[in-house]
Amino acid sequence: MCGIFGYFSTIANQDIIKILIKGLYNLEYRGYDSAGIAMLDINLNVYSYKSQGKVSRLDALLETQLHNNFIPAGIAHTRWATNGPPTENNSHPHHSDEFWVVHNGIINNEEELKKLLTRNGYSFYSDTDTEIIPKLISYHKSMGKTLVDAITDTLQSIEGTYAVLILQKNVDQIIGAKNGSPLVVGLDDTSQTFVFSSEISPVVEHTRKILTLEDNQLILINQSGIDLFIDMVTRENVDIQKQVETTVLTKESASKGGYDHFMLKEIHEQSKAIKDTMGPQNDTYYRLNSEFGNVNLGGLKEADQKLREINRIVLLGVGTSYNACQLGKLYFERITRIPCSAEESPDYHLNDPIIDSSTLAICISQSGETKDTVNALEEVKTKGGFALGITNRVDSQISKLTDAGVYNHIGPEISVASTKAFTSQCLLLLMFAIYFGRQRDLGKDEGQDLIESLKELPALVEQTLQLEDQIKSLAQKYANQKHMFVIGRKYNAPIAMEAALKIKEVTYIKAEGYNAGVLKHGPIALIEPGFLTLALAPKDSIFDGMTNSMKQITARGGSIIAITSEDAPVIEHAQDVIRIPKTREKLYPFLLTPVYQLFAYHLAVCKGLDPDKPRNLAKSVTVE
Ligand code: F6R
Repeated sequence: MCGIFGYFSTIANQDIIKILIKGLYNLEYRGYDSAGIAMLDINLNVYSYKSQGKVSRLDALLETQLHNNFIPAGIAHTRWATNGPPTENNSHPHHSDEFWVVHNGIINNEEELKKLLTRNGYSFYSDTDTEIIPKLISYHKSMGKTLVDAITDTLQSIEGTYAVLILQKNVDQIIGAKNGSPLVVGLDDTSQTFVFSSEISPVVEHTRKILTLEDNQLILINQSGIDLFIDMVTRENVDIQKQVETTVLTKESASKGGYDHFMLKEIHEQSKAIKDTMGPQNDTYYRLNSEFGNVNLGGLKEADQKLREINRIVLLGVGTSYNACQLGKLYFERITRIPCSAEESPDYHLNDPIIDSSTLAICISQSGETKDTVNALEEVKTKGGFALGITNRVDSQISKLTDAGVYNHIGPEISVASTKAFTSQCLLLLMFAIYFGRQRDLGKDEGQDLIESLKELPALVEQTLQLEDQIKSLAQKYANQKHMFVIGRKYNAPIAMEAALKIKEVTYIKAEGYNAGVLKHGPIALIEPGFLTLALAPKDSIFDGMTNSMKQITARGGSIIAITSEDAPVIEHAQDVIRIPKTREKLYPFLLTPVYQLFAYHLAVCKGLDPDKPRNLAKSVTVE
């Protein structure tokens, strides 16, 4: 949700425009309503360029600019509009007479701060809250404060969240600070180059040495390197080395790797994502313990005793992560017999939820930064519950706020529509269920049986992905549909919800996901000749029930694509049938998932849409 990027180097003669634009392309999935940059020229004047729309429009605009008058110091922003429409005027950087600022976050006390500035003679040219920041810094500076005091006083008066980069006229430096929104700085000591970014992927092509800023920290970089790194509350220096790490990410992990879109690449990465979830960074499945029919989850070790004492589980997430929660609930109750509920995070804290010290909340979030889920987590902590996290982003807010947790470790997910993260989340929930089950009544042999079947998953998913040509031709056949149902039951009901979400997001077809058992209680009223339903119907314990639902649809003239398993009988009621490999009932969600994902992807491509950047959406939703 909004990406910020900045670059500062002591090495002259670099194409700063190209570097900033490349950084923005890498961050674009965080928001693509508008983009802008600001740079210093050799006389330390600030030049800023902005454009409505995707980064490519700004890129095209800048083609016409001279590239050689600038020094390598600049800031950049790609926006997901919250305050004000996505116009050029509302695009970042925003400025006062002296300061240019890019901002990711939200200012909740905007009105109060605007009033203060208006009383003191400032006026505003945009609808954004961000414009307050450069003007407030100018205001504090005009009161005789030092630059650092003017900035820290400004930032400390903000109620809300921010990661900001600040460029000042006539000064060869960049200042970064954060509270509640992410900010990292790549450090290339050999070339005295510093790369600021909302996240690591755009940094790795410059350096893999990463300084992750914590809340309330401010960093100032100039020709002497890191000139200042302080905690804005205590104003004391911070030890840089404690926060520096070498990332395992490489340039390749942030590229499309020969695929047309990140979404397609990430769908095809799922077999590897499953392996990585079962044993990050190698092929040994070291998180699976065949001998004891259990899982080894280092992140839960210290919480082991506490986790034996919990008697209720609440799974919290939103969107795709919530759909994973719904499947997790079924795994937990079946395998552990601990009562479990799946809750959508946005309203959780508003409904005075029942939580006590024996309640375990598990927060699921790919980005680890989703504000709605952070709010829910804070409610759990306030009421004394114990919280675990499942996140893909190391050191994200949720991973820091939870008592313990486990990372997906599946590399960056760049496509806005979540694919491989969903698969990994579902798998980790199943692995958590085995862990809690083994702490209680799940027998060693049952545990071993589950563990052995998990090991078969990567090959089965690989086999499923081979169905792409058939799925693509079905997408071509049905690309003109305006509405669609996706139905499933039991473990596959949450998958129907997720399939519908995926189709909606990237194709704009009105897809609805239902438990097939619910269909006849209302939604079936919408079925008419030609209405398409995707039926998730492998040969499992509820196959006959699914067959009945399919019959009810075709009896009313509806069309069906059935996704079934290779051992199922002929499905007469379906126009088209896709057969996935046979597996055990609990694991069908993992084989159905690549099929609907590929279907959604190819539908989007057939319709001429960009599946990586669906309209109105952004990755990492850090506002409420
Ligand atoms: C859908 C999608 C979103 C996210 C949701 C939560 O494809 O990606 O629905 O699942 O915004 O995001 P995280 O998992 O980062 O908390």
